[in-house]
Amino acid sequence: MRIAVLVSGNGSNLQALIDAQIGKQLSGQIIGVLSNKANAYALERAENADIATAVISHKDYPNRESFDDAMHQQLLAWEIDLVILAGFMRILTPNFVSQWQGKMLNIHPSLLPFYKGINTHQRVLNTGDRLHGCTVHFVTAELDAGQSIAQSIIQVTLHDNVESLSQRVHELEHFIYPQVAEWLCNGQLTWKNGQAYFNKKPLERPIQFARF
Ligand code: GRF
Repeated sequence: MRIAVLVSGNGSNLQALIDAQIGKQLSGQIIGVLSNKANAYALERAENADIATAVISHKDYPNRESFDDAMHQQLLAWEIDLVILAGFMRILTPNFVSQWQGKMLNIHPSLLPFYKGINTHQRVLNTGDRLHGCTVHFVTAELDAGQSIAQSIIQVTLHDNVESLSQRVHELEHFIYPQVAEWLCNGQLTWKNGQAYFNKKPLERPIQFARF
């Protein structure tokens, strides 16, 4: 599988994917890293690993459609099979998403379907939830609403704040994201007509990892 990772920022999940590839826990190959921000630290991580990079700034395009089309052309040029969103902070157009159906993953820092969107850690603290975590899901046109594949769960403690939750959830992400990517690369995870299959059986609920 030829993989592209889309980023906007730090790229610690990209690093986890690079490390998994180097450690042979990821059988796909990261061909390119595409950022909408020229100053994203993730680009340095890619360069350090000798991975091609491309910067396509949304500010250079008059609308979402033309920006997404420029990204699509880059993905085609790299002959990509699997697109991994890793802290990519742009909403994608339905047309772009439909061209990568079943071939595009996202990781979100909450236990979806709860807390779609941003500021998830603060919202979990505000509500007083005892459980939190992250979700890897297929990307569909509706934000953070594609079928969830796997979740990793932590218990929120009385001592947690936004920073500690962000750090604890990131640790989970770095484990779960390469794992799900590998399931797609080795064929254990497939997708057909809007439905995920794991080991050839329809996936009815996300595979859960708990760390208590
Ligand atoms: C992660 O928390 C991920 O869940 C969200 O964006 C953040 C990216 O972090 N989609 P990093 O850039 O990979 O460190």
